[in-house]
Order: sequence, then C-alpha cells, then structure tokens
Amino acid sequence: MSKTVFVLNGPNLNMLGKREPGIYGGQTLKDVEEACIAAGRELGLTIDFRQSNHEGTLIDWIHEAGEKALGVAINAGAYTHTSIALHDAIKAISVPVVELHISNVHAREEFRHHSMIAPAVKGVICGFGTQSYILALHALKSATA
Ligand code: DQA
Repeated sequence: MSKTVFVLNGPNLNMLGKREPGIYGGQTLKDVEEACIAAGRELGLTIDFRQSNHEGTLIDWIHEAGEKALGVAINAGAYTHTSIALHDAIKAISVPVVELHISNVHAREEFRHHSMIAPAVKGVICGFGTQSYILALHALKSATA
C-alpha cells in the first residue's frame, strides 16, 4: 500500500510569510513543507507537497492522488468557498481527504463560513495556524491505520 500523502495547496498560499502575516503567520510555504516532511517521517508517511494557483491543476492532482496516494491533505484557499469542481474531484476518488485551513474560517468574514468541499471530505481542521497541516497528517494517519 502507498505511504505517500499528497499535501495540496491552492491559490495565494505561495505568498505565505508575506501575505497578511497577522492572519496567516510568518512561516513561508517552504517552512510548512519542511515541517510536513519531518512530521511525515515520524508518522511513516512520504509527503508529496504541491501548490498551484489554478483550479484545474488542483483537480488533476486530486485525480492523481486517487491513483497513487494513501490520502490527501488539502488547503484549497479561496477555492474552498467557491469550487463545485473541487468537491466533485474529491468525490471521484476513494482515498481519504482532509480539508485544512491555517485560520479559523468560521471566525472571519461570512463568505468564508461555507465550504464547498467540506461535504466531500473525511474531516476538517482549521484555526491552528500552520500546525493545522501537521494535525491533518495525524488525522490522515489514523484514518488510514
Ligand atoms: C485559508 C482560508 C481561506 O478562506 C483563504 O481564502 C485562504 C487561506 C486558510 O488557510 O486559512 O487562502 O484556506
């Protein structure tokens, strides 16, 4: 069985560290990738960490994960709130998917309160800063044990 977990990042997450640091913190996406790889090593998971600003690319990666990954952790950024296509892509694969957010989207603007992908995923983690990524890896580990 595959031990690879895809950690997928959507739009604007390449700007982490520079982008609204009061909300998203000072870590860069590279820092988050390194923390995920280190946590993955302890959990016995290989991390395939990716970011795209393009919805179709994220959809292609979800399909790819369905073929070759143990599971997916996804921070879909603003596509979380808009994308029926991401919902459908997640529904199309059978490996578990964990939705994650750095910020507590429910404590922010109204338009962030609804997730299009939440009904399609195994579970949701949000509000723990970049630690949300690590919590998502632990969640996937237990969901696939
Ligand atoms: C986010 C929350 C989204 O509402 C926002 O559009 C993002 C980041 C988060 O990680 O807190 O881009 O997914």
